[in-house]
Amino acid sequence: MSQVLINQYLAQLDVLRKVGGTHRESVVREAFKDLLKGWGKQHDLVFIPEYKLESATKDTRFVDGALLHELRVPFGYWEAKDAKDDLDAEIEFKFKRGYPQDNIIFEDSLQAVLIQHRAEVMRCDVTDAHALEKLLKLFFGFERAEIADFRQAVAQFKTDLPAVLEALRAMIEREHADNAAFTRASKKFLKHAQEAINPGLTAADVREMLIQHILTEEIFSKVFDSEFHRDNNVARELYKLEATFFTGGLKKSTLKGLEAYYAAIRAAAAQIGNHHEKQTFLKVIYENFYKVYNAKAADRLGVVYTPNEIVRFMIEGADWLCEKHFGRNLIDRDVEILDPATGTGTFICELLEHFRGTPAKLAHKYKEELHANEVAILPYYVANLNIEATYAAITGEYAEFQNLCFVDTLDNVGLHTQAHGVTADLFGSVSEVNMARIKRQNGRKISVIIGNPPYNANQANENDNNKNREYPEVDARIRQTYIAESTAQKTKLYDMYARFFRWASDRLDSNGVLAFVTNRSFVESRTFDGFRKVVAQEFAELYVVDLGGDVRANPKLSGTKHNVFGIQTGVAISFLVKRKGSKGGRVFYARRPELETAEEKLAWLGSAALSGLSLEEIRPDAKHNWLNLTSNDFETLMPIASKDVKGATKPSQEKAIFKQFGFGVSTNRDEWVYDDSPEVLANKVSFLEAQYAGQKATKEPDTVIKWSRNLKRRHEQGRREPFDPKRIVRAAYRPYYATWLYDSSLFIDELGIRESLVSGGGAVAKHIIVTDPSAQKPWLACAAADVPDLHFVGAAAGAVCLPLARKVDGGVADNITDWSLAEFRKHYQPGRGRKPQPIIKEAIFHYVYAVLHDPAYREKYAQNLKREFPRIPFHGDSESTFWQWAAWGEALMALHIGYEQVAPFALVRTDVADEKVRAAGQSPKCLLKSDKEAGRILIDSETTLVGVPPGAWAYMLGNRCAIDWVLDQYKEKKPKDPTIREKFDTYRFADHKEKVIDLLMRVTTVSVETGRIVTAMTSHSR
Ligand SMILES: C[S@@+](CC[C@H](N)C(=O)[O-])C[C@H]1O[C@@H](n2cnc3c(N)ncnc32)[C@H](O)[C@@H]1O
Repeated sequence: MSQVLINQYLAQLDVLRKVGGTHRESVVREAFKDLLKGWGKQHDLVFIPEYKLESATKDTRFVDGALLHELRVPFGYWEAKDAKDDLDAEIEFKFKRGYPQDNIIFEDSLQAVLIQHRAEVMRCDVTDAHALEKLLKLFFGFERAEIADFRQAVAQFKTDLPAVLEALRAMIEREHADNAAFTRASKKFLKHAQEAINPGLTAADVREMLIQHILTEEIFSKVFDSEFHRDNNVARELYKLEATFFTGGLKKSTLKGLEAYYAAIRAAAAQIGNHHEKQTFLKVIYENFYKVYNAKAADRLGVVYTPNEIVRFMIEGADWLCEKHFGRNLIDRDVEILDPATGTGTFICELLEHFRGTPAKLAHKYKEELHANEVAILPYYVANLNIEATYAAITGEYAEFQNLCFVDTLDNVGLHTQAHGVTADLFGSVSEVNMARIKRQNGRKISVIIGNPPYNANQANENDNNKNREYPEVDARIRQTYIAESTAQKTKLYDMYARFFRWASDRLDSNGVLAFVTNRSFVESRTFDGFRKVVAQEFAELYVVDLGGDVRANPKLSGTKHNVFGIQTGVAISFLVKRKGSKGGRVFYARRPELETAEEKLAWLGSAALSGLSLEEIRPDAKHNWLNLTSNDFETLMPIASKDVKGATKPSQEKAIFKQFGFGVSTNRDEWVYDDSPEVLANKVSFLEAQYAGQKATKEPDTVIKWSRNLKRRHEQGRREPFDPKRIVRAAYRPYYATWLYDSSLFIDELGIRESLVSGGGAVAKHIIVTDPSAQKPWLACAAADVPDLHFVGAAAGAVCLPLARKVDGGVADNITDWSLAEFRKHYQPGRGRKPQPIIKEAIFHYVYAVLHDPAYREKYAQNLKREFPRIPFHGDSESTFWQWAAWGEALMALHIGYEQVAPFALVRTDVADEKVRAAGQSPKCLLKSDKEAGRILIDSETTLVGVPPGAWAYMLGNRCAIDWVLDQYKEKKPKDPTIREKFDTYRFADHKEKVIDLLMRVTTVSVETGRIVTAMTSHSR
C-alpha cells in the first residue's frame, strides 16, 4: 500500500509540475499533502490542514498540516516550503518561531527532512522512492509515549472505576455515620444545590455529584490548565465538602487505582496546544466516564458528545443562513441562541470560539444571549464548568454563566409566548434561582436553536426500567401535526428527536434558524411521511446533510467505522429556516458516500461549509418522499392491503386484494414462550405462570421473569391463566424454521394477526408474509401455515402477514375481497374458443404470491416496496396468463409451506471423527456455516455436507439465503434472559443434528425448485 501511495505521489508531482510549470509551494504541496493524508488514514490519523498552534511564547502559529490521533492529540506535523527557499534556513527559522520539534517533516518538493525529538533523523530526495518510503515509515512509526499510556489507561479506567466508585460510596456512607463535620457540610451543600439548581435534588444526588467531582477535578485543572473552575459556585461548595474528609493520605490511597489514568491525562494534555482539541479531549474523557458511571442514564438521555467538526459546521451554517435570510449574524445583537440539550456545553463553547474575534460583543452574548438547557445533573455540572472555563480562557476573566437552565426542555412548553411564563408543572420542581433563569429564557425571542438532541426511540427491555417518559403537550402537538399527516401503519414519532424537532419548531421565533444533528430516519422512513410534509410547510428552506451510517439498513456498514457517532443509527444534520409569511419550503439535500468512513466524514465536515456545498434541490412527490423518487406506474396497480380497507365497514369500500392484515405475534419475551422442545416450553411457562401469579405488586416487580408494560397492566387487572398444554402450538419463527410457541393472550404482548388467523391447520390456514415497509430492511416475501412471529423477516423488522382466510365471529371468512375478485374477472377474459375457467379467490392468492417472487417486479418496484405495501399488476390480458402465474404461485407456496415434506436433495455427507473432542468426552463443535464457493455446509467439527448446487444459494430472503436462515437458527446461543440462562438453557445442537441435516437437504430442494420457477417467470412474456 505504501508503495502504491508513493508511486501515486510521484506521478501526481510530475503532473503538477507539468501543468503548473513550476515547483512553487502552493502547487506541488498538494501532492505531498495527499500522500500524508492517505498514509495517515492507514494509521487512523486525521489530517488537518493549516493547523493552529500556540507557541511556548503564546503566539499563534499555523503549521501547513498536522496529523492527529482520534483523541485529537497531535501525532506529527508537516511544513511545505518553496523549492527556491533555503530549506535549512527555513527550518532553523521555524524552530526559532516555536514550531514543534518532536515529529515534523519539512519538504520543498525536492527533498524531505525528518526531525524527531529535536534532531534530524533523516533527509532524502523526494524522487528516491525507496528513501522516501523509509523516511515516511520513520515518521509514522513515531510513538508518543503519552498516547500509548493514555490508551492503556483509558482501558484500565473502565476496569478500575467500578471498584473505586464502590469504595467511594462506602466511604461517604461511613462519613455520614461517623463524621459530624461531613454531615453538616453535606446538608449545607444539598441546601445550596437545591436553591441553585433544583429542589428535587436529594442526598443521593449530592453523593453522586461529590463522587463525580472527586474523580474529575483533576481533569479540569489539568486539561484547562486553570483554576477558574474553582470560582464556579457549585464546584466551590463541592471543594468544601470534599475537604471535610477526603484529603491527604486517604485521598491518595483511594485514588491510587486511577493514578495511571490521571498521569496519562496529564501527560497527554500537556501535548495539546490548541483550544479546540482540548475541548474534544474533555468530551472523550467525559463520555467514557459517564458510560461507566451511569450507563442507563447515558443510554436514556443520549449522552454522546458531538465531534467538533460537526459543531463547527453547524454553527457556521446557521450563521450563513441567518445572514442570507435576515441580514444578521449570530454575533449580532438580539440574535438569541439556545442549545436545548447541551450535554457538556460543546455548542456554547464553540460559539464562544466563533465570537473570539469581537471581544466586546462576545461579553454581551455570553451574559445575555446564549442559552442552554440540560436535564441531567452530571452533564449540567460539566457544561457549567466547561462553558465558564472556555469563556475564561478566551477573555482571561471569570464570569458566571447565568443562562444555563437545569430543566427538561420538553416540559418547558406553551407559555413562553406570554412573557416569562413557564409550564405549570415546572412550578415547585425548580429552584428559585433556576426558575429565574428559565423565566428569563422564556421571555426571550429565540432566533436560533442549535444542538444535538437525544434520539433513542424506545427501549428493548422493560426490566431495565429505563423507559423514555411521556410528554403530554409535545406528544399532543406531534399527534396534531406529524401523525395527523401520516399514512403509516404504526408510528414511532414519539422518538426523542422528533419531539425535539416539534418542540423547537414551536419555540423558534417566526423568523429563525433551527439546526440539529439527529437520527437520519426522517429523511426516508415511511413513518416520517407526515413529518416531512409538515416541516416543508412550516419552514421556508430546509437543508439536510445526510451523513449516512445506518447500520441497520445496510449491514455492510459498521457503527464504529462508518458512523460519525460510532452508533448503529444513521445521522443527518438539518438546517431549517423559518420565515414569517413563507408558504411552503424548498428542500435541499446532500449526501456523503455510503461507504465513507466516519473519519473521512469528519475530515470533510472539518473543511466544508454549508454555504459552499452544491446541494440538490428535492421536489417531494405527492406522498412526501424526498429520496428515491420513482416515476413508474406503481400507483396505478392494485393495492394489496391498506389501513382504510382493514377498517372499512362496507364491502364497497374494500378496494384492496386482502381485507385483513397485521403483524406477527410480538411476545416481548421470546425466550420464555418459544422453545424447540415442547417439554422444556411447558416447564418454562409453568414457572413463568407461577412467578407471575405469586407476584404481589407490579410497580417494582422482581426481575426473575420478563415483565413488560402490558404484562404489568394485565397483572393489575387480575388476569390469570393456568398453564394449559393445549396452548403449545407450532410457530413460524423465521423462514424455514418452525418452533413451539405458548399461544397465550396473557403472556404474548401483542397478538397482532394471530387474532384473525384460522387455527387448527386445514387448507385455508395459510398466509403470505412480507417485510413491513417502514422497517427499512431488505425486503422479502415468504409463506407459512403456522402462527408467524413479528420478526419472521429478521430481528429488527416487522413481518406483515396476509392470510387467505380470516376468523370472524361466526367461523371463517374469505380474506380476499369481492372487489378484487371482480377486478380480476373483469380484466382476464377467457381465450377465444376456450372453455372459461372462472377465477377464484384462492387462485388470486396464488397469483399474488407468484408476482411477489417475480425478479422483474422486484427490480422495477424496489424503491416502492421499501416504503409501501406491495401493489399488484395484471400480467397479460388472457385468462391463460393469469392461470400460468397462479400455478407458479401455487407451486411456490406448496414448496415454501411444505418444506419439511419435499424430497431431500442428495447432498453428500462426510464424517471424520474429531479425536480431540471425543477423547475429552465432548460432542463435536457446532459450526453451522455455509461455504458458498466450495458448495459445502460445515455442520460441526466432524460432519460436512457437500454438493450444494450454486443455484441453491441464489434463493434469497432479504439479505440471507434460505440455507443460511436455517443455519442461523440452530446455532447454540447463550440465552440473554438471566433466569432462562440459569434454569432452562437446555438447547444443545448435538441433540438436533440429524434433524437439521435432513432439513438442510430439504431446504436445498426448496431453493433449487424455487430458482427453477422464478427462472421460468423471467422468460415468460407478460
Ligand atoms: C447528544 S447529548 C448532547 C451532546 C453535546 N452537544 C456534547 O457534545 O456534549 C444530549 C444531551 O441532552 C440531554 N437531554 C436529554 N433529554 C433532555 C431533555 N428532555 N431536556 C434537556 N436536556 C436533555 C442529555 O442529558 C444529554 O446530555
